[in-house]
Amino acid sequence: MPTATDSQAILTQLQQWALAFDVRLAELLAQACPAATPPDRLVEAIRYAALSPGKRLRPFLACKCASLFGMTEDDTLDIAAAIECVHAFSLVHDDLPAMDDDDLRRGRPTTHVVYGEALAILAGDALLSLAFELVALHAPDAQRTSAITLELARAVGAGGMIGGQADDIQAEGSPAGREVVERIHRRKTARLLGAACKIGAIQANANDEALLAVERYGTELGLAFQITDDLLDLTASAEHLGKDVGKDQSAGKQTFPACVGVDESRRIAANHVQRAVDALAPFGEAAADLKELARLVLERTR
Ligand code: IPE
Ligand code: IPE
Ligand code: MG
Ligand code: MG
Ligand code: MG
Repeated sequence: MPTATDSQAILTQLQQWALAFDVRLAELLAQACPAATPPDRLVEAIRYAALSPGKRLRPFLACKCASLFGMTEDDTLDIAAAIECVHAFSLVHDDLPAMDDDDLRRGRPTTHVVYGEALAILAGDALLSLAFELVALHAPDAQRTSAITLELARAVGAGGMIGGQADDIQAEGSPAGREVVERIHRRKTARLLGAACKIGAIQANANDEALLAVERYGTELGLAFQITDDLLDLTASAEHLGKDVGKDQSAGKQTFPACVGVDESRRIAANHVQRAVDALAPFGEAAADLKELARLVLERTR
């Protein structure tokens, strides 16, 4: 039976890994968008959005899934950085006045509050473009460049995260329904987490069956992750979470707690985590860290 100590160990591992990841992310950003004199406000906004202190869960998942198939974590950082750039873009746009209209992100004023709406929109656009630049530059060979590009493009596009964000906005104000919420969560959040896992495994040349298994793991983890995000919006403090709370209710968002209540939401999240863990059964002990990471999603407080 896993214990709280196991969760603490994987959280510590993620936090340590994130330190090295952040160094590499900063290098990649400096290469792609060198600092200019006089300072280029767009480049500053890009760096502000990408290098602010996020949890780095998606790139960590990519690296852990690659290492499941024998690739060293160091060899996976650059593609992992591409996935984090997509995520950073999604957050900058998610916070815009036309979207969730949030002033606080990762404990800091949001990008549009500091740099203005126009530069925030453009910084988000540039981060999305940078993600594909990083894949083109750093994927191991032509075949994997193509496979990773396709996976990332589909995960972020109208059928994935962006489509889910459109659904999320359009569903504001309607009474929450479980099937609708799950469809929104699947596209706006779970699709990219599933893709992060799959892309890590593609990089390490995993076979098709293994790709499906890790993608299923990431998707189930992602569904649990968005349910816990909805729960934290109700239960956490802005100071601890680093973003404004209570916003989902005031914006009339469709969330799990709004449609089935807090207790049932926790139970559903736990079911998704169990399904994530089950998806990794073929890998046995080698996947112990990834299983623990899924369990951590239920316990997270930020
Ligand atoms: C926030 O993601 C957006 C959601 C999909 C819920 P994270 O909670 O991973 O945000 P950071 O990257 O740690 O700031
Ligand atoms: C956002 O969901 C998911 C994204 C694709 C960015 P939320 O709008 O609930 O994320 P937070 O709570 O602002 O981080
Ligand atoms: Mg949102
Ligand atoms: Mg939001
Ligand atoms: Mg939220």
